[in-house]
Amino acid sequence: MRILLLVHAFNSLSQRIHAELRRDGHEVSVEFDISDAVTEEAVALWQPEVIVAPFLKRKVPETVWRQVPTLIVHPGPPGDRGPNALDHAILRGEPTWGVTVLQAVAEYDAGPIWAYRTFAMRPARKADLYRREVTEAAVDAVREALARLARGEVPEPAPRGVFRPALTAAQRTIDWASTTTEAILRLANASDGAPGVVAPLLGKRCRLFDLHPEAEAHRAEPGMVIGRRDEALLVATRDGAVWVGQVRQEGGVKLPALVAFPEAAAYPEIPGNGYWEASQPTWQEIAYRETGAVGFLTFRFYNGAMSTPQCQRLLAALRWAFARPTRVLVLAGGTGFWSNGIHLHVIEAAERPADASMANIEAIDDVAEALIRHSGQITVAALEGNAAAGGCFLARACDFVWVRQGVVLNPHYKNMGNLYGSEFWTYLLPKRLGDAGTAQLMAHRLPILGEEAVALGFYDAVLPSDGFAASVRQEAQRLADDAAAVTAFLARKAALRAADEAVRPLAEYRRHELEAMANNFYGFDPAYHVARYHFVHRTPHSWTPLHLARHRQVGYRREGAPNRAQRQSLFMEV
Ligand code: COA
Repeated sequence: MRILLLVHAFNSLSQRIHAELRRDGHEVSVEFDISDAVTEEAVALWQPEVIVAPFLKRKVPETVWRQVPTLIVHPGPPGDRGPNALDHAILRGEPTWGVTVLQAVAEYDAGPIWAYRTFAMRPARKADLYRREVTEAAVDAVREALARLARGEVPEPAPRGVFRPALTAAQRTIDWASTTTEAILRLANASDGAPGVVAPLLGKRCRLFDLHPEAEAHRAEPGMVIGRRDEALLVATRDGAVWVGQVRQEGGVKLPALVAFPEAAAYPEIPGNGYWEASQPTWQEIAYRETGAVGFLTFRFYNGAMSTPQCQRLLAALRWAFARPTRVLVLAGGTGFWSNGIHLHVIEAAERPADASMANIEAIDDVAEALIRHSGQITVAALEGNAAAGGCFLARACDFVWVRQGVVLNPHYKNMGNLYGSEFWTYLLPKRLGDAGTAQLMAHRLPILGEEAVALGFYDAVLPSDGFAASVRQEAQRLADDAAAVTAFLARKAALRAADEAVRPLAEYRRHELEAMANNFYGFDPAYHVARYHFVHRTPHSWTPLHLARHRQVGYRREGAPNRAQRQSLFMEV
């Protein structure tokens, strides 16, 4: 089918649906919902058979939905209506929730229903549920809706349902003196990644994110900071304490708590459990556990962003794990994201962003280099969550990359002001993809699915979405069980590395990449700094990038609606 994706932003759900629909053989173009007139123009240019709207913040104009069937993806079961569906569901403690694909009509979320799916809720942040359960359900439901539409079926009438209005700032506000820890954590889950819970911290009104329970008793006046660990602050509640990982001060950007409040460094450091995974709830960004000859090092960096100190801590943990008597070391990231590369928010807030960028890329390169040089264990990157930019290439520094089915990858640096990129991609990629494949991947600006990355030879295996962690454990164990094969693999790796080093030292690849990055950071073209500013400050879009809006590509407009072959070749150019 000829499909127009109409989106507020090309977010993870829209990217996944875009990639899946293209893989299904549909012709897909994207338009950002900027104004009614722009949407009308996109419809006139692309002449879609159907519009799919996975993520919208406004109503679709009547001129459009009357002309073309418009399928809205609503993150709630049939009958649920309103803009904060998941937030309300988390607050009410719904045991199951759903996603409905309904047809746009004049009334908000009230159109007839084409398809829906339900899923079990788990105690998690709204953004994690959205990127996992909601996304999986939405992909299935959109597929069914399109199939039904293509068969000429009609949608079912919607149940009367309930419209739940947006939550107000007052409803998202914590009173440290009276709100229980449980209620704080629930509100935090319902409000994370946006807009966060509202609370005073260190005398300032803030939005708090990335809240975690603390099992150990710490007595202090509710709302007072008790201490810190890494860049998180432990804050007393009326019946315990919570860790606050991220803070946004009024008018500022979301930052690790200690970066937002550098003065909090004066609070005492509360030591954790070292690298061993704590048995009780607490703040632990990096956690290690071992089963037989397999070590699992999990780094749960908020939003997959890796700041300079986070990279340094990860490197220290890696070196420690390298010394463990294991044969396989699995590197797991968070459930939402594995890694999204350098920490753009921390860089944006730095006094000298160019210097902060350089330090951050050096620090992430140190991690990649340690992995490339390591020949003491087989290393496996296990991607349960999505990855982008440097995060995709950091994973490739491991011997194997296993990816959960459905993971969305953005293995390129193009969208961040055409960064050249580092993490040793110039060394790692040609070995896998050849020179032409490398050039193609780096120039490709669109998201790809894990399955596509494996088909390209960029990653090694896709594991099923359900029970991903268990499959990783099983596969890692299978690798480790054959001690002789592990020894042979590692000997081969060391020999290949030595041979590569003789041809061109790793330090040369690094120097070359960092020289190009220095040009991006310090050179006369400010594209990276501008792109980062807009990304971090969520500047509303004023146009749709041409690599997404196929109907706006130059050749396409000039020649009017091209035939299928012409459209295909235009697409290949992108
Ligand atoms: N540094 C800091 N924060 C980052 C980040 C990064 N590298 N990548 C993502 N985030 C944050 C976003 O700012 C956003 O913050 P919020 O919680 O305040 O809303 C959050 O992660 C989710 O990102 P969002 O873009 O809303 O999620 P998505 O799932 O729709 O898209 C990406 C995911 C990875 C495609 C997109 O975030 C992206 O392009 N990130 C930048 C990657 C990059 O260029 N890295 C630097 C070069 S190595």
